[in-house]
Amino acid sequence: MKMKNHLFFVAVLIAAVSCSTPDIHEVIIPCPTEIEVLSGQVSLDESPDPVAVIGENVMDSPEGYELTIDKDGIVIKAGSETGVFYAHQTLKQLRYAYSGRRMPAVHILDAPRFEYRGMHLDVSRHFQGVEFVKKQLEMFASLKLNVFHFHLTDGIGWRLQIDRYPELTDIGAWKPAGWKYGDPTDLFASADSLDAVGGFYTKDDIREILAFADSLHITVIPEIEMFGHSSEVLTIYPELKCKGKTVQESTHPVNEFCIGNEKTFEFLENVLTEVIDLFPSEYIHIGGDEASMRHWAACPLCQKRMKKEGLTDVKELQSYGIARIEKFVNGKGRQIIGWEEIAKGGIAPNAALMSWRGVEAGQQATSTGHKVVFCPEPYCYFDAYQDEPIKLPEAMTNYVSLENTYSFDPAEGDFEGKDLIWGVQANLWTERVEEASHAEMMYYPRTFALAEVAWSLRENMDYDNFRKRAIRLSDKAREDGYTVFDLRTETGPRPGSVDSIEHLAVGASVTYADDFHNSDQFEKKGILTDGKCGPWSHRYPGWDTFAGTDADVTVDLGSVLKIKNIETSFASYGVRYGYFPLEVKYEVSLDGVNFETLSVMNGTKAADEKRPDFEKFEWKGRTKARYIRVFAARDTAFATRPGIWGSGRLMLDEVIVR
Ligand code: ACM
Ligand code: ZN
Repeated sequence: MKMKNHLFFVAVLIAAVSCSTPDIHEVIIPCPTEIEVLSGQVSLDESPDPVAVIGENVMDSPEGYELTIDKDGIVIKAGSETGVFYAHQTLKQLRYAYSGRRMPAVHILDAPRFEYRGMHLDVSRHFQGVEFVKKQLEMFASLKLNVFHFHLTDGIGWRLQIDRYPELTDIGAWKPAGWKYGDPTDLFASADSLDAVGGFYTKDDIREILAFADSLHITVIPEIEMFGHSSEVLTIYPELKCKGKTVQESTHPVNEFCIGNEKTFEFLENVLTEVIDLFPSEYIHIGGDEASMRHWAACPLCQKRMKKEGLTDVKELQSYGIARIEKFVNGKGRQIIGWEEIAKGGIAPNAALMSWRGVEAGQQATSTGHKVVFCPEPYCYFDAYQDEPIKLPEAMTNYVSLENTYSFDPAEGDFEGKDLIWGVQANLWTERVEEASHAEMMYYPRTFALAEVAWSLRENMDYDNFRKRAIRLSDKAREDGYTVFDLRTETGPRPGSVDSIEHLAVGASVTYADDFHNSDQFEKKGILTDGKCGPWSHRYPGWDTFAGTDADVTVDLGSVLKIKNIETSFASYGVRYGYFPLEVKYEVSLDGVNFETLSVMNGTKAADEKRPDFEKFEWKGRTKARYIRVFAARDTAFATRPGIWGSGRLMLDEVIVR
């Protein structure tokens, strides 16, 4: 009887907690600057419509707002319609959290940390229609994001109607039926073929998106890629390619416009004229990333241009081209922004920069007087996995969790020109994101974290608190029809990859039987005994790579120790980038000369073709040893292609000894 009473009490308590009134500090994303709880309780359901007053800026910001909710009603004060709009976004989140409940009376003062708060969408690799874009804009605005970076052109498809060059969308927007990312990129279908896949935005579509964005206080910045990532244009207009014969197109496809050819500038300026007529944004994104410069180096026209302009290398040739485009765009009263590579041969005088490979290029640019949007890969690339990859649809092989995004602070560190940090952005590249629902899952909830990084003061940010708010807002988003990754099922970082683990081999020296494994791209010596396991991605430090060879390493513990457990894990990513060992053998020795076999284990897992996966090899028992040799046999069945990457690799993160 007593027990029953007890259980009843627990049940009542659980019920009470699960529908208790939310703490006002666990509701709003992005976190407001100041929340002052007033006396008394109110019901938003019963409150009259808000009264909005536009007067002076709040907190010195035209986007700032003051929101008072008390027994007298709801009052919004702001310096602009945008501030009023943001107060309404806060109010919507409060209404959701306190629906059917009373909430504390509050006074909220709020303004953004950064002026530029952006989200990006690549619609070249996989096209999404107008309704999808509008739906995401609605969510972005609700998070007080204010820039939509619309990546409209890239090698896979051209997505914007250009009247002067109808072939760009008649041909360049369509792939043959069944075409999948990874198939030859230069296959295009005619728009007339019934089963062609793809699409593009007409100018009316764009006007519809722009009007909608404007109503949400979002600026749309269009991106027209140059001089690289342009193979779709060059397939249609091959005369804009370089003319060099020394570089084989079969092995090095041409993705770059010829900068030596005047026709390139004629084409780009004609396109930009229509883009500028259509999009009212002050900034036009001109791409500039990842151009391979080898064709320019071999092209007589490019070489002639370099000579004429006194340019010493192809990086300067690229900068010449960008500066020329900047002059054209400036002449139309607009500015350019480009990916960080545009600064490689000297940044154009008025250009703003997007720092994406890391933060260094951005810091360099602010120190020389340029505005910078920070969107570095390890925090802001939403094409990466947000959790344990094997649970998720195929993505790019990096790992960017909600917490990674949340931890990014563009002002961290010592560098000049911090007042030129324009803001932050997250990028959604869609090479591996075809379905609308997958795209949304990649955006949410990580976009919530980006929004808080962009808007909120650092001192108000706390991840544990944010995560609760993110779960609540994820529920709201789902109710509103969005697909959202479920944080309640999150595995979190790979065990041992964030917090160091203690074991007997930490700091021990490691001898490699074969130096061939070493590649400056991936490994660091010492990785196997640094007390850290590798992350959910083989692309970031943490994994030691054995390319085209078996793994054969010996760990020296420094003295003879009692041992009861040895554990190693291997990462795979398809058979191309890494596969699991066929066999793993542990040997031990007291003197480093005579080794005794402890364990021989067969690999049992096949590499997942699409996603990183991991296999653990563990021995348990009792022994004494100073030296531990780990030998992992590669699968030579995969050693079919030339070069160390072609023959695949074994990836090992830590030799854990207990
Ligand atoms: C980029 O991710 N290539 C800008
Ligand atoms: Zn050329």
